[in-house]
Amino acid sequence: MIIGVPKEVKDHESRVGIVPSGVKALADAGHKVVVETNAGALSSMPDEDYKAAGAQIVGSAGEVWNRADMVVKVKEPVEKEYQYFREGLVLFTYLHLAPLPELTETLLKKKVTGIAYETIRDRNNTLPLLTPMSEVAGRMSVQVGASYLEKERGGRGVLLGGVPGVPPAQVTIIGAGIVGTNAAKIALGMGAIVTLIDLNLNRLREIDDIFNGRVYTLASNYYSISKSCAHADLVIGAVLIPGAAAPKLVTRQMVSKMKQGAVIVDVAIDQGGCIETAHPTTHSDPAYTVDGVVHYCVTNMPAAVPHTSTLALTNATFPYVIKLAQMGPTVAMKSDNSIREGVNTFKGYVTYPAVAESQNRQATDVASLL
Ligand SMILES: NC(=O)c1ccc[n+]([C@@H]2O[C@H](COP(=O)([O-])OP(=O)(O)OC[C@H]3O[C@@H](n4cnc5c(N)ncnc54)[C@H](O)[C@@H]3O)[C@@H](O)[C@H]2O)c1
Repeated sequence: MIIGVPKEVKDHESRVGIVPSGVKALADAGHKVVVETNAGALSSMPDEDYKAAGAQIVGSAGEVWNRADMVVKVKEPVEKEYQYFREGLVLFTYLHLAPLPELTETLLKKKVTGIAYETIRDRNNTLPLLTPMSEVAGRMSVQVGASYLEKERGGRGVLLGGVPGVPPAQVTIIGAGIVGTNAAKIALGMGAIVTLIDLNLNRLREIDDIFNGRVYTLASNYYSISKSCAHADLVIGAVLIPGAAAPKLVTRQMVSKMKQGAVIVDVAIDQGGCIETAHPTTHSDPAYTVDGVVHYCVTNMPAAVPHTSTLALTNATFPYVIKLAQMGPTVAMKSDNSIREGVNTFKGYVTYPAVAESQNRQATDVASLL
């Protein structure tokens, strides 16, 4: 199979779909990998590393797309990439088609096999290609929060771990899933006093076991959230209700009662945010202040650490890439439930029910088309 890796063109996207070690594994298995020049540059993976791993470096996106049987990307294609779609092309990337009817229509018209990272589901019923970015954002949230707690950056001038004779900072994390647990690990490692809040009591039991009681757990309700926020130096928003907007758990009034110079990092901002005063920000202007509380609400936090994020993402995506290459897409879709779940468009049909529903289309079972 010929596998193509174009340079990402979406604004501020600095990750890349396949890393040099992936190229080597594909080349060793007898496949050809065509990589657009500088595709990995922003992730600190230069062309020379790709070449040494066995890739052919080409000068234009068009050449990658036109030669490839399967294109492996990171973000959904933007309009100027639609021209490269053609019947039978396999496109493996984050697609997020629900709010993108135009992209969906073009994939259908051109009969592209669109396999979306975000809908691949594993045996444990989790979404393995979303997990690594939550791990990155969770760990980063504490790093960012610690930095904004410094006086120069608008914070109250508190060191997360304190020092002997001076107490550590208090960190409240709302949501004890992937983001929340990873945030707790880093905050605890930096010496902070950590409270994790979740609705799911079984999850809080697991947290209590994992951290051996070193993290305080609280059942999520208005009272516990308002009390915990009032004491916190750093609040991290990390809730998720799958498929729905995040609930506004920290109200404007709770924010007004927080300490002056406290910091909020609302990681859930990509789902609308769980803090009433939060609105989406970008890496070029990441933070603002409301009632003396610094708010950091960047919707694509992993983009700040593209080297780590690319490696984390491709660690998770690569097993599917190699399976698709080795088996060919049809056999892979027939034999692997996870890959079948990832298929969003096939032979001109929408094959993922939630995408069809959100666009008032009819969903067709991919199995019936194989
Ligand atoms: N900003 C970014 O760059 C970025 C990056 C990655 C993930 N995210 C977002 O972070 C959020 C969390 O992702 P995740 O992977 O940790 O999800 P997850 O499903 O692993 O965890 C979410 C947790 O929220 C809990 N929850 C739901 N309702 C709650 C409530 N009312 N009170 C307290 N807890 C509640 C759930 O029980 C669950 O434990 C998502 O919105 C995700 O899209 C953002």
